[in-house]
Parts: sequence; C-alpha cells; structure tokens
Amino acid sequence: MFVYDEAHLRVRCREARDAWGEGVAYATKAFLCRAMAALAHEEGLYLDVSTGGELHVALSAGVPAERLVMHGNNKSDDELRAAIAAPVARIVVDSFDELDRLERLAAGAPKAPTILLRVTPGVEAHTHEYVRTGQDDTKFGFGLASGAADEAVTRARRLEDLGLVHLGGVHAHIGSQIFLLESFDAEIEVLGPWFARLGLDELCLGGGLGVAYVDGEEAHSISEWAARAKSACARVGIPADVRLTAEPGRSIVATAAVTVYTVGTIKELPGIRTYVSVDGGMSDNPRPVLYGSGYEAFLPRCPDSERPRAVTIVGKHCESGDLLVADACVPADIHVGDLLATPVTGAYGHSMASNYNKVPRPPVVFVAGGSYRVVVRRETFEDLVRLDA
Ligand code: LLP
Repeated sequence: MFVYDEAHLRVRCREARDAWGEGVAYATKAFLCRAMAALAHEEGLYLDVSTGGELHVALSAGVPAERLVMHGNNKSDDELRAAIAAPVARIVVDSFDELDRLERLAAGAPKAPTILLRVTPGVEAHTHEYVRTGQDDTKFGFGLASGAADEAVTRARRLEDLGLVHLGGVHAHIGSQIFLLESFDAEIEVLGPWFARLGLDELCLGGGLGVAYVDGEEAHSISEWAARAKSACARVGIPADVRLTAEPGRSIVATAAVTVYTVGTIKELPGIRTYVSVDGGMSDNPRPVLYGSGYEAFLPRCPDSERPRAVTIVGKHCESGDLLVADACVPADIHVGDLLATPVTGAYGHSMASNYNKVPRPPVVFVAGGSYRVVVRRETFEDLVRLDA
C-alpha cells in the first residue's frame, strides 16, 4: 500500500507556489491520480501533463484546462488536437515535426495556442544518465549549440505572424534527482543571455530538484532552489518582468509517502546474506532495478528502534534482479508477518508501477488529521483480465 501524508503534500505545493509564484506547475508524471491532481490544483499549482493519458486524468479530476501545460517529445496528432481544443494554458513544443503538426492542426482553432519552445542548453546535470536531459545528445528539445533553438524561434515567429500560435516563451529541463544547485546555475548561465535577447514573457526552468532517499543524503528545499535560480537569472540579465516558472515533480511528492509491505519469507544464507521477501517488488517500485536507487526500510511497529541487522529486501517477482533495498538495515527481531515500510516512495513509484507477474497494483491512501481515505483502490484479480478482448 502507498500511504501519503496529505498535509505534507499540501505544504510542498504551497512552498512551490510561494517560492516560484504564479505559473509553477506540478509535474504529474511523478505521481498522478484524480485526488493528487485536485490537490495540486487546490493549492494553486498548474499541472504539467506529458501525454494524452495524463491530460485526461487531470481534466477528469476537474482541473480546468487553462491550468494545464502540455508536454511530450512525440505528441501525436490526437494529443495535440486535444491540447488545442481543451485549450490548455501552454503547449511545450519539442521538435520541428511538432511545429509542422501545429501549423496544420492549429488552423481553425478557436484560439491560437500559447507555446513554449523546449530548448536543450547543453548542460550535463550531476545525476543518473538515464534521467539527464540537458545535454546536446538527447531526444528532447531544440539544441542551443547547434542553432536549432534559433531556427525554432524563427519558425515559431512565422507561425505567430500567421496567427496560428502565440510564442509565450522558452522551456528547459536538465534532468531529475539533481542535488547540486550549481547544475541549475549552469543551465541559467547558458540559457539566460540567449533568452534575454528574445524579449519573450516566460522562462520555465523545468523540474529536477533532488530529494534525500537514504541516511546521509541532504537535499535543498524548493525555496532554496527557487531563490538561487531567481538570483542567477537576475545576474545573467533576464529582465525582472519575465515570468520565471518551474515544474517540480519529485520534490513535491517523494517524501510525502511510504510504501507498506508484509514480510512473507526470510531466507538466511550463512556467510552470504539474508533475503527478506515482501509482497511487492519491482512492480511497485522499479527504481532500484532501473537506476540502482537506494532506500531505507523500517518496521512500523517499532519505527525508532535500532536497525543492526543487514539484509537484502526483495520482492515476489520471478527474477533475481527484483531488488527493493540491496543493503538494508532492519531491527534484529524482524519476522515473517511484520509490516515493513520503505520511506520516500511518493515519486515515480505508483506512476511507474506495472502488473508484472500479474501482481495487482497496490492501493493509494491519503491520511490527514487522523483519518484516511482510499484515493486509488487496490487492484483485484478481475482487474487483471478486464482488458482482455
Ligand atoms: N519537467 C519535465 C519536462 C520532465 O521531463 C520532468 C521529469 C519534470 C519536469 C519533473 O522532474 P522532477 O522534479 O520530478 O525531477 N523516473 C525517474 C525520473 C524521470 C523524470 C522524468 N522527467 C526516476 O524515478 O528517478
């Protein structure tokens, strides 16, 4: 079960809104269900949606289209049509093919869509290579160094002259789980002077702020991130009336949740290791397998007790790579039947969950003020055959 602290979610949303101001968006890919979409909207955030599916969930949660930002490096005609028709607040354009598609699809739209151009600044953020996006070699955006970004501005302005779009600004996103604020400074130093010459209204700096997952890690707050980015923007000459925005995902939701499992099997291999198997695994948290991500573990029955015992926490899937916590420390008396929790699972856990081995996905529960509500129910075996034709 994923358990979210609703107050924690709200505090993070408010912090983002206060720190960045009007226009900051929650990146829904980190965690999305109707309750989360509604919560982020209630707390004054825009919502960044990167597929037709995320757009659908946000709209079906009652979030007004004018509070949505449409993303995606390969938007289909249908996705673009839906974004134009909604109409969403901004469409972040990722490629020349998308500009071509917009030229075709925006003709006849009741209102010319506002677009931002996604620009790749050529900055290598200090994070896992799979979640780095700012470097020149990437599928995302228009490269600054190659001149593609300039060409995209020229083409967007031509579409604007034809009354097909409104060029609102520039967007960049250099990666995810970034601890060093220097990476964002570098993004701004590269992008800022170029952006300032364009005379556009908005610069979105993307998401990416890292969070602490394991003992010893330290992360900056959203407020620190925003304050530093704003002063870097002023330093490189971005006019004060430009709307500076961001799209935090992980830093809003990650630390708000724990995943609760039940221990089913403990296998001791003398001189080798002890395996603790729980009733989930790579299907509810693929991050350890995908990125080698670390987590802590504790027992909810004794959250403050010493954790002297070194074990490896694994799931119930049929492969040896099904690791949840490779080097976990747990209380000495851990036993079969214990509930075991891994904290900081609020981002990219539920949203990347699968039905591998036909394991039903766990429910999501929001707790607040001493009570709880189920916001995504537990999947049943019947759900597993629901789509079979
Ligand atoms: N904006 C854009 C355009 C993005 O691509 C992303 C994340 C965000 C904002 C939000 O970034 P955040 O603040 O959450 O770092 N599955 C990976 C993370 C992939 C991030 C994808 N894009 C993980 O579990 O670490």
